[in-house]
Amino acid sequence: MKGRIVSVVLAAGKGTRMKSEIPKVLFPVAGKPMLQHIVDILVEAGVEDIFVVVGYGAEKVKAAIHGPITWVEQRELLGTGHALSQTGSKLRGYAGDVLVLAGDTPLLTVDTLRALVAEHTRGKNAATVLSAKVPQPTGYGRIVRGNNGSVIAIAEEKDADAMQKKINEINSGTYCFNWAKVEPMLDRLSANNAQGEYYLTDIFSLLVLNGEKTGAYSVSDYREIMGTNDRVQLAQAEKTMRLRICHKLMRQGVSILDPDTTWIDADVEVGAETIILPQTIIKGGTKIGGNCHIGPNVTIDSCTLGTGVVVRYAVLEVAAVDDGATIGPFAYLRPGAQIGRQVKIGDFVEIKNSSVGQGSKVPHLAYVGDARVGAYSNIGCGVITANYDGTKKSRTEIGDGVFIGSNVNLVAPVKVEDGAYVAAGSTITEDVPAKALAIARARQTTKTDWRREED
Ligand code: UD1
Ligand code: CA
Repeated sequence: MKGRIVSVVLAAGKGTRMKSEIPKVLFPVAGKPMLQHIVDILVEAGVEDIFVVVGYGAEKVKAAIHGPITWVEQRELLGTGHALSQTGSKLRGYAGDVLVLAGDTPLLTVDTLRALVAEHTRGKNAATVLSAKVPQPTGYGRIVRGNNGSVIAIAEEKDADAMQKKINEINSGTYCFNWAKVEPMLDRLSANNAQGEYYLTDIFSLLVLNGEKTGAYSVSDYREIMGTNDRVQLAQAEKTMRLRICHKLMRQGVSILDPDTTWIDADVEVGAETIILPQTIIKGGTKIGGNCHIGPNVTIDSCTLGTGVVVRYAVLEVAAVDDGATIGPFAYLRPGAQIGRQVKIGDFVEIKNSSVGQGSKVPHLAYVGDARVGAYSNIGCGVITANYDGTKKSRTEIGDGVFIGSNVNLVAPVKVEDGAYVAAGSTITEDVPAKALAIARARQTTKTDWRREED
């Protein structure tokens, strides 16, 4: 957007309709608080000054939201008009345009903001509202149009008469204001309405009375300006946002076979040629390389995956998986799992706070916790690193080219050095030197002809 633009985000409300202690603007959509979505699009649009008006739960909001924000406090929640006027001296006498947004319209896009500003400039308006025609206008302020497309009033749901209620063009709560013309009007707002609040929307009728020009930019995709006031609308916003994220990734070369059941957070990155199968959830800023095969039924939270990784029916949390590794089916990578190149982690395997070196295999039914497994080692079926003695955790060190037979307990702290073998069924309590074979089990006794004739 050309020139300097100031923005004010109104985010002081409690969000009564959420029925929650959490401030409404902190409810996440696609893993990111609604208000953070708004701040991020303002930054993306190149808006330099972002004022955010906070009130209910101000400290929580300030702690959760980041960006180049100047916080403004609204101590009494007396309505959207009152909220904007709290910028007070910070914007007094400012001669440019001010974008005003609500904290609860997370689906807004940069393109739409730009189009709003362009229309405001083109029309030389004192105020321009972002509107949309919607199939179900109930609950929103209705745009009352005058001649030449001007906006002579915005009628709130609770104040609208029967005629106005039929209007299907609604107010998004996003505006572009010529500040020199709007600022003096803020003092003239009255709370003489159904909700006893200072409505920002009344600015339009006040400006028209003063002979100023007003207008609207009507966005064609109404879902973009959906207000998110209760948990039903939150779920709708979530759905729209998720689909948008999937579509964006697909355009970047990611195959998503079923976008309806694929949940990817806004801050996730996925490389081209990766295929994502149904029932997959990817969140927490996870980064996935190209040519991977993810799903079905996979949850990945806060992980980094290289290229060509295969993950099926698995849960991965705060883990790193290097190129060409395969995970699952039915594997659980817990925080601190570092899986090397070409490693195979198979079914019913749990890895926690452990590294597994290049080319090693943990194919089935194993627990590897607080351990280091070197390269090209084989961890047999049923192996357990006994890392916890009831009070403290200890580490297990397994070198390169080690073979751990089936059903082995490695009682930590313990080391199995490079090239060593551990026989199946052993309980290892002492270090095993390189290339040695350790057997730690009772010898088999076989009693011949033990079964009696009559049995
Ligand atoms: C508002 C508009 C309505 C519009 C709708 C779009 C008014 C009077 N009404 O209604 O025309 O269709 O948004 O979604 O503006 N806030 C404050 N301080 C306050 C009150 C609200 O900062 O004292 C903030 C809220 O945190 C919220 C935003 O302003 O982010 C909008 O408030 P909300 O109560 O959601 O207004 P709506 O009833 O949805
Ligand atoms: Ca709202």
